[in-house]
Amino acid sequence: MSATHEKKRVFIKTYGCQMNVYDSDRMTDALAPHGYEPTTEIESADLVLLNTCHIREKAAEKVYSELGRLRDMRAEMGRDRSDMLIGVAGCVAQAEGEEIMARAPAVDLVFGPQSYHRLPELVSRARTARVIDTEFPEEDKFAHLPAARREVTIGRGLTAFLTVQEGCDKFCSFCVVPYTRGTEVSRPVDQVLAEATRLAEAGVREVTLLGQNVNAYHGLDATGRSTSLGQLCHRLAEIPGIERLRYTTSHPLDMDDDLISAHRDLDALMPYLHLPVQSGSDTILKAMNRKHTAAQYLEIIGRIRAARPDMALSGDFIVGFPGETDADFEATLEMVRQVRYASAFSFKYSIRPGTPGALMDGQVPEAVKAERLAALQTLIASQQASFNAGCVGLTLPVLLEKPGRNPGQIAGRSPYLQPVHIDAPADLIGQILPVEITGQAKNSLSGAIVTGKAQAV
Ligand code: 5AD
Ligand code: SF4
Repeated sequence: MSATHEKKRVFIKTYGCQMNVYDSDRMTDALAPHGYEPTTEIESADLVLLNTCHIREKAAEKVYSELGRLRDMRAEMGRDRSDMLIGVAGCVAQAEGEEIMARAPAVDLVFGPQSYHRLPELVSRARTARVIDTEFPEEDKFAHLPAARREVTIGRGLTAFLTVQEGCDKFCSFCVVPYTRGTEVSRPVDQVLAEATRLAEAGVREVTLLGQNVNAYHGLDATGRSTSLGQLCHRLAEIPGIERLRYTTSHPLDMDDDLISAHRDLDALMPYLHLPVQSGSDTILKAMNRKHTAAQYLEIIGRIRAARPDMALSGDFIVGFPGETDADFEATLEMVRQVRYASAFSFKYSIRPGTPGALMDGQVPEAVKAERLAALQTLIASQQASFNAGCVGLTLPVLLEKPGRNPGQIAGRSPYLQPVHIDAPADLIGQILPVEITGQAKNSLSGAIVTGKAQAV
């Protein structure tokens, strides 16, 4: 597809994780030089893309029902692929490309996460015949993806995602990621620094580094030396304008000394860490192929807290993995009690075809999974409430991010990732100011800007 001035519209619906959010923006950027503008009105779109998630069965099934709705909508509007293409991207496309083509004849285009730089060409081919591209190409996707225009980046706000690493070599036995996103690949240091610099120049203050296994990052620097995530954070923190750094998602075994000491030494590195453990039972951890024990996880948490005592911890848990007994589940609850999380995500085990877990004996009945999930979520909610309550009375530096829901309000973020609602004039947006926390709700804080210096962080 050649660059053109003819205006067309693309509607992208994003499912799943933050990496998909990042990828959707990069797809928008790839299409922009070819005349495509993003739209939020699906009816006016010339191209509809679903950027899908395959992590659990429910997420994948949503795609097929959405495709049914899209097919009907397009037919009712009297349109077809000549003026409204339907495409499926992301991890369902990667894992079930052929099945999508067979089950959903209205789909014109299926392509996996490693083909996004080829999108303009795929779209133009799809106008004449259905296209599927789920290869893992040789070339570096990121080197071929165009950057957003500066005004577009400015419009996206003060915080941004930046993918530094993709794929996973860990092969946890429940997880599709190693199959859908492939083996671990780290972007070169200079590429990451250049993208972060562009973001900072467009006003971005907070960058969240993304990767399925982000702390396994080992990108090469200009001299060809392997660089750890901790070292990368040091380089990023030197970029003028980058005030805050975060990263997600991490594996406990990749929390190396570089990264832990970066949490002690780097003001820009925020005291919030998402470090999934999945289970507190050694038997289940082994069956999950997590490659560490519960005690090792707690020891790592201890080292992190020694470096950064106010670290807010978050995690992921799976209940009802095959073979999980009441005692195994109790060990998970005990793990949560010991760690005291600031927040955490928990899921019922979902069988993923092609993963070792799908073939294991001892699948747990749905009702038992539901019961365990409810108990775990109650415990996590009470920990989150305690963490938020502990912030009341503190003065925290808050990034004043965007207008709040009510007039005269600004929505900001604490260092611990909590949303903070503040009554303040909109012209303060963009600054990081000390805010005295005066109240808490289930998932957020409220407070008032104070003069003087922020405590605690
Ligand atoms: N079933 C349930 N949860 C899963 N996760 C990954 N695979 C599965 C699965 N098959 C969860 C893990 C992971 C998070 C992103 O999703 O907790 O950390
Ligand atoms: Fe999946 Fe994360 Fe395990 Fe990799 S480390 S297999 S992405 S759960």
